[in-house]
Amino acid sequence: MPRAFAKVILFGEHAVVHGRTAFAAALDRGATSSGRRVEGASRLDLRAWNKVVFEGQADDDVARAFGAVLAEVGGDGAVDVTIDVQVPGGAGLGCSAAIAVALARAIAEARGVALDDRRAAECANAWERVFHGNPSGVDGAVAAHGGVIKFRRGEASIHPVVPGGVMELCVGYTGEPSSTKSMVESVARQLARRPEVVERTFDGIDTLAIKAAEAIKAGRWYEVGQMMDLNHALLTSLMVSTESLERICHAARDAGAMGAKLTGGGGGGCAIALAPGKTDAVLAAWKGIGIEGFVARIGSPIVSREAMP
Ligand code: PMV
Repeated sequence: MPRAFAKVILFGEHAVVHGRTAFAAALDRGATSSGRRVEGASRLDLRAWNKVVFEGQADDDVARAFGAVLAEVGGDGAVDVTIDVQVPGGAGLGCSAAIAVALARAIAEARGVALDDRRAAECANAWERVFHGNPSGVDGAVAAHGGVIKFRRGEASIHPVVPGGVMELCVGYTGEPSSTKSMVESVARQLARRPEVVERTFDGIDTLAIKAAEAIKAGRWYEVGQMMDLNHALLTSLMVSTESLERICHAARDAGAMGAKLTGGGGGGCAIALAPGKTDAVLAAWKGIGIEGFVARIGSPIVSREAMP
């Protein structure tokens, strides 16, 4: 069954849109799909936790994005695709890219077209352009490839990174839907208004992403945690954090996390906390303030492309 991964961005969101490094990791959940050739028009059914979100071919963004992926995959023939997604949308967890990669793989399978990870990620970018205008491509790359990757926009290849141990992360959801598009647009406006300050912020994030990759490879979690806090501070200076994201990060640090930051577009959505040996304490602290969370073990073999059926 075609599959694709949801993800967390460990370092580098927003700066990656402007050519800096991002560092992202696949989650052990995402989207699955199935497709078959049909007569007549192509159809897309989208379900989240088995509940129908979208059915058929309405005249809206989903239909346009579906058309873009059908064209990008290539081959011909109408297809009927069903996708099941296991992460909330608008939460900064790469739900949309996971849907797009699972969709592209189902279309390719039904049409008998070969589609490697790089092409699957390109198909996700075609889908993402409809919804969020200027995607860096990091979500599509990790959705297609899985594992832990270092990514730079425009580079032909992605760089897989092997963590020096399993990274115990807690993911906390504010419950507030975030719009990646409006956050990316807001950062672009700040860049146009104060280029010298914002470019320096992006450079700071870039340095953190590169240094963090080394620390993660070596399993130096204390350093990684500190860099997460710094990355979060720089994202806050770009005004993509919210009160709820701040509360989640503070509560996690108070409960023993080594570092915490928002993940993804911000403006709501999720935060992550690095909490080796403290995941239960962090989840309990979040529960106490009404925040739902889960544990993600980054670097465990289950979230690599090789583990896919
Ligand atoms: O909110 P998400 O999961 O789509 O993450 C987007 C990451 C950004 O850097 C904000 C945008 C992008 O295209 O890279």
